[in-house]
Amino acid sequence: MRRPFIAANWKMNKTLNEAKNFANEFKELVKDVSDTDILVCVPYTLLCSMKNELKGTNINIGAENVFYEDSGAYTGEISALMIKDFAEFVIVGHSERRKYFGETNDIVNKKIKKALEHDLKVVFCIGETLEKREKGITKEIVGKQVREGLSGLEVISEITIAYEPVWAIGTGKTATPEQAQEMHSFIRDLLEELFGEDAAEKTRILYGGSVKPHNVKELMEKQDIDGGLVGGASLDAESFSKIVKFKGQ
Ligand code: PGA
Repeated sequence: MRRPFIAANWKMNKTLNEAKNFANEFKELVKDVSDTDILVCVPYTLLCSMKNELKGTNINIGAENVFYEDSGAYTGEISALMIKDFAEFVIVGHSERRKYFGETNDIVNKKIKKALEHDLKVVFCIGETLEKREKGITKEIVGKQVREGLSGLEVISEITIAYEPVWAIGTGKTATPEQAQEMHSFIRDLLEELFGEDAAEKTRILYGGSVKPHNVKELMEKQDIDGGLVGGASLDAESFSKIVKFKGQ
């Protein structure tokens, strides 16, 4: 049985004060949650303070991105070595990185390898655009993202997959639980083909794209949906806590 995993993706949001207020409110709201893993991924500028604010709690911290070199003349980039001082997780391959910053499957693959080399856990995002879905090539695209993103890896125990259909991100249009389940089961089958049955069974596959307090429960009821990667609804402590506590709803 895979343990539920609910992750926040703050994207480019929150100042230091806003983050501190969130942390103080959120840690109280979820302090009794012991049957679900909780992760909050924040901008680099907030990693240090979030580490202090959330010390000793049941909340893990992640970064939003990482570069694939350790150090050097890469103005503005942040390495896995630097992130490691503050966080255990990193998001790699988010569709917004792919769309606005030209991240290819090859770049995503390099980032994943570098993060793992430095013992960061990875939330690896994949998902099709509306155009690709309408063309009927969703599985082809997502399959290619998985194969190329994980290429050269032998072990995926430190990787969590986040399936996020691009057309459902920030649009209020959630994939139906059935649509999501179909893709999650496709991804799990592919993981089995690439890494074996045991790895496929153990890997958690999160759904992302307009997850809200009112729809999380029906998504989580599906066999291959093991959690959520939550954008907009994770910015408010109360609404994100309701998603984390989906079992009680
Ligand atoms: P959303 O974002 O919940 O605002 O749709 C999800 C994501 O991009 O990870």
